[in-house]
Amino acid sequence: MAHQDADTISNPSSNEHFSDILAHYQASRREVLQGLGGAALLSFLGGSLLGSRNATAAPIPADVNFGGIGFEGISVSQEDTVRVPSGYSVNVLAPWGDPISDGPAFRQDASNSAEDQLQQFGMHSDAVEFFPFTGTDGKPSHSHGLLCINHEYTDDGLLHVNGTEDWSEAKVFKSQYAHGVSVIEVQKDAAGAWRVVRPSPYARRITARTDIEISGPVALHAAVRTADDPAGKTVLGTLNNCAGGRTPWGTYLTCEENFNGYFINPGSISTEQRRYGVSAAGFGYRWDEFDTRFRADRHPNEVNRFGWVTEIDPFRPDAQPKKRTAMGRIKHEGAMVTLAQDGRVVVYMGDDERNEYIYKFVSRQAYNASNREANFDLLDEGTLYVAKFSANGTGTWLELTQGKNGLTASNGFADQAEVLLKTRQAADRAGATMMDRPEWVAVHPTTKEVYITLTNNSNRGGSPASSNSSAGTTSAGSARPPVDAANPRARNVFGHIIRWVEASGDPAATQFAWSIFVLAGDPANTDPNKQGNIQGDAFGSPDGLWFDYFGRLWIQTDVSTSVLNTGDYKNLGNNQMLCADWRTGEIRRFLTGPKGCEITGSTSTLDGTSMFISIQHPGEPASERNDPANPKAVSSWPDGANGGRPRSATIVIQRNDGGVVGGL
Ligand code: FEO
Ligand code: CA
Ligand code: CA
Repeated sequence: MAHQDADTISNPSSNEHFSDILAHYQASRREVLQGLGGAALLSFLGGSLLGSRNATAAPIPADVNFGGIGFEGISVSQEDTVRVPSGYSVNVLAPWGDPISDGPAFRQDASNSAEDQLQQFGMHSDAVEFFPFTGTDGKPSHSHGLLCINHEYTDDGLLHVNGTEDWSEAKVFKSQYAHGVSVIEVQKDAAGAWRVVRPSPYARRITARTDIEISGPVALHAAVRTADDPAGKTVLGTLNNCAGGRTPWGTYLTCEENFNGYFINPGSISTEQRRYGVSAAGFGYRWDEFDTRFRADRHPNEVNRFGWVTEIDPFRPDAQPKKRTAMGRIKHEGAMVTLAQDGRVVVYMGDDERNEYIYKFVSRQAYNASNREANFDLLDEGTLYVAKFSANGTGTWLELTQGKNGLTASNGFADQAEVLLKTRQAADRAGATMMDRPEWVAVHPTTKEVYITLTNNSNRGGSPASSNSSAGTTSAGSARPPVDAANPRARNVFGHIIRWVEASGDPAATQFAWSIFVLAGDPANTDPNKQGNIQGDAFGSPDGLWFDYFGRLWIQTDVSTSVLNTGDYKNLGNNQMLCADWRTGEIRRFLTGPKGCEITGSTSTLDGTSMFISIQHPGEPASERNDPANPKAVSSWPDGANGGRPRSATIVIQRNDGGVVGGL
């Protein structure tokens, strides 16, 4: 959402910007890799998979190999529907407002109460993960399991009958209950159609008012104690749950992204709050008017209790979720989990704001494949790193551990809890590389090569952009982002995807070799800096990113509705999903979304025959708030003429012949 993405720039440091490095990047990827890992790493450059270690969260079936992309790319679209290639079907599985179990039905005029909303899917669906049940044959089921779905934020113009008129505590509660996560049970029926199982003992809503434990090094710290929670142990709620992840032991990771926008601070904003974008007015959620936790002037520690990765066990509906503070406090976009060669858990994470950083967490203990419970607190202990990209194509993971890299008491980091509470400031001091808004991370299931989307950075290198909604202003008191006049991607309105391979192919390594996978753009743009180098179908503002279990790279876009189908984006249609062949760089358009939406979140059953994705904020106007008097002004997806308003939804995509989605 641009309303979310239009966050101000909070990073006033003078760390090297990625654009500086890109401009000077001369070394070939092959030469760099040779220095880091030798022949084994080079083998996949020619297209052959390493295949030596395959202990991933979702194992690739032994009898299946990557066979390329098996569909013809589709055209761009401005239609108010989900389009996919011929031979595929799309079904709406979980729209906002439908009951997660046997709760109340959705009312098309949005007259459901806050209490109703607590039993229904939240708004603005985002990340989705599938957790299969074990079948009678002892193997993961491809037709029955649990889905965890994030609900990032709310559009109050759409959520309530009369929008923000007569603002009340009930409206605040409804908004808070429309945030968070849904856990649902889903099953494929005899005809092959997926349905929500109702009722289900697993069905669960986790919202901005659910008790969540603060776990890891920051638990009990003075900076997270509040009047309501003097121990600093339990937070009420999780919010702005954007991207996510899954662990090998079958738990869900939900990431708190733009948490700052819920707080207002009309008083004196501290340096710490400013570095995370806390502002006088916030983003206009108006929760503060009836829930004073969100007055950051009155309850300054409350803001420290958000910005974390929260772990949820979907198989234990009574288990309290935990905020895993060892993974740092940033505007978490996602938490992509893989395993190091010695079995330690590695989590890659982006901090989605212009000029912020890319992080990696490595657990202290190894994953235990034979004892699920032994892994329950693995994410509480480990080492956090931040990435520094060097001009010669190598990179270094800088350790964010108290006492190292300048993270000393005299510099404001008295203990590890302070390093984690002030992760951004720690990364500033360590000398990390500022990036063009790091979003989702994907790790190739076999080679372990890492890819990340850098969605755009319109305000870098020149005058503020007029063709992108991202504000040209900065947080009060912070500097303009660095300008690099020599960089050909100044005013990076289309974004790009970079990739790297860790030294010796080990995700726990502290050195890596990187390259640009693709510069997004429109080849028809008259400005050479905006044409990109896509081999295949054009796109911009890549956001969601996921390797399926067969090695196809799926790219999802989040072009702001303020620029969608206009200006530089006039040829690129509605937001879309594409599929890339990482070996050749070829990219084909697989799906186009309805009007005003973004495409986000993707996963599939382990056999790849059913893909789940989210359609977020269909019908969002350029102003980013729906008109309650005319909610269908932009879109009526998915309910069409029979519906009262557009609804975000998680959908399922299947091939009519039952084959692997995207496959040959
Ligand atoms: Fe919620 Fe950075 O997208
Ligand atoms: Ca996103
Ligand atoms: Ca985004």
